[in-house]
Amino acid sequence: MKTIVYYYSNKGSNRFLAKRIAKDISCEIEEIKPRLNAHLLMMMGINLGNRKLKSNCEDYERVILCGPIWMGKLIVPLKNFIRNNILKINNLVFVSCCGSTFDKKDEKFGHNLVFNEVKKLSGEKCKHCEAFPIVLVLPTELRDDSSAFMKTHLNDQNFKGEMLDIYNEFIINLS
Ligand SMILES: Cc1cc2nc3c(=O)[nH]c(=O)nc-3n(C[C@H](O)[C@H](O)[C@H](O)COP(=O)(O)O)c2cc1C
Repeated sequence: MKTIVYYYSNKGSNRFLAKRIAKDISCEIEEIKPRLNAHLLMMMGINLGNRKLKSNCEDYERVILCGPIWMGKLIVPLKNFIRNNILKINNLVFVSCCGSTFDKKDEKFGHNLVFNEVKKLSGEKCKHCEAFPIVLVLPTELRDDSSAFMKTHLNDQNFKGEMLDIYNEFIINLS
């Protein structure tokens, strides 16, 4: 299936994840660039739109969209991407390296709320959503420590254990 990965990342974890997916399934990748890349302003809902993409979603059978979650919301650059391109997207898979864990997925800041927003915007085109909680790369005793997980970012050294298991299963399911 001809696929492209689009991603937005502020601190690097979703860039790492997106690049890894594109490498492992040998597909193209493009970064989503907001016109105003100011994390705090975007979180306050200030939205000047995204820069024009180089690629065209229509040319791909499947789009994988990757990015973080802030304050339990679908972030502005990802929302803009879906709104601008939904008519051209054939099949959408949404993935997020996020802070919320599987047991908290339905809480106020949980990833399921964002998955529901993605599904609402993209309807039946959304085939799958997958969360990669960043705490999975931390030792068990630090997983409830919010300052530890906020300082943690995916990299070649920590992308292993439970995180890698979930990732490998995701890649198998993709194909
Ligand atoms: C201000 C802020 C708010 C966040 N809010 C949430 C949230 O509501 N739910 C969640 O799952 N993760 C939340 N996170 C965690 C990020 O989604 C997580 O750190 C992500 O891996 C960052 O991705 P990046 O490195 O690609 O920017 C938040 C992070 C920041 C900085």
